Amino acid sequence: MISAIDPGGRNTKYFDSRLPKPVMFPSAIGINDLDRNLKSSGEFDFEWEYEGLTGFAGSLALRESEYVESRKDESKAHFDAKLRSLIALHQYGSGNEHQILVGQPIDTHTETEKQAIKKMYIGSHDLTVNGKRKVIVIKNCEVGPEGAASGLLVAPAVGTIRIIDIGSGSVNFATITDRQFINKSSFTLPEGMESKSKLDPRSFGRQIAARAIARKWDKNDTVYVTGGGANEVLPFIQQLFPMAVLLDPDPFTTNVRGLLMIARRVYGG
Ligand SMILES: Nc1ncnc2c1ncn2[C@@H]1O[C@H](COP(=O)(O)OP(=O)(O)OP(=O)(O)O)[C@@H](O)[C@H]1O
Ligand SMILES: [Mg+2]
Repeated sequence: MISAIDPGGRNTKYFDSRLPKPVMFPSAIGINDLDRNLKSSGEFDFEWEYEGLTGFAGSLALRESEYVESRKDESKAHFDAKLRSLIALHQYGSGNEHQILVGQPIDTHTETEKQAIKKMYIGSHDLTVNGKRKVIVIKNCEVGPEGAASGLLVAPAVGTIRIIDIGSGSVNFATITDRQFINKSSFTLPEGMESKSKLDPRSFGRQIAARAIARKWDKNDTVYVTGGGANEVLPFIQQLFPMAVLLDPDPFTTNVRGLLMIARRVYGG
């Protein structure tokens, strides 16, 4: 089965071609929580056992974990991102063998980090979720740049577009020319909607736009804004980039939809 996973700092998104639309659940994880007395059945309530550890994830972790966290790192080569992705495959994937495409922030979309991520995923994983054990076999794993993946939904065959993907822990700035990702004018601001003690969308929008201008983006460029922070921050980006628009009415899942397009191209599905 070919699928795309965007294990974000706040929300994990999963998509494959059997589904009408992507699935999204909270990325929160708590480790070694006590047994639940009350068996609730929220759609994204997950109790997991993996590599000798146990805990809660999803909405159950947000509600019940005493040590809940959603890691928001600059790279996604870490245990929490792996567990979020494996829970997505366990719950929403089909069959036991998988070829996956996962997202990674642009600045850490480097050969070293990509190799670390592939090594982390490729192989077999024995995971139990809500009492159901599965052996998940990942045969192939490729890594795609966040932000740029979203751009594939709107990029024209000829011409340059810019994408700003405002996430919980990072903002990705991507440039796509003739549907090709241009690394030298793409970068990451390692701060997102949940990095400030009290987010001020106006100041954050100004900060984001100023970063783009510092990297020589032109104020008349076609800029598409996406990610969970897009609706809140867009009006303030428009003050410096009047041509900026919302990339898609569902800004949360644009990366995972673009990653699935890459997956189908890479794996021929
Ligand atoms: N209903 C909602 N649920 C979760 N987040 C929301 C919601 N509505 C708005 N948000 C905003 O969206 C942000 C999460 O956006 P998004 O899902 O794109 O981030 P992410 O991909 O998980 O993070 P990152 O890309 O930094 O790893 C939250 O930090 C919050 O500011
Ligand atoms: Mg994201």
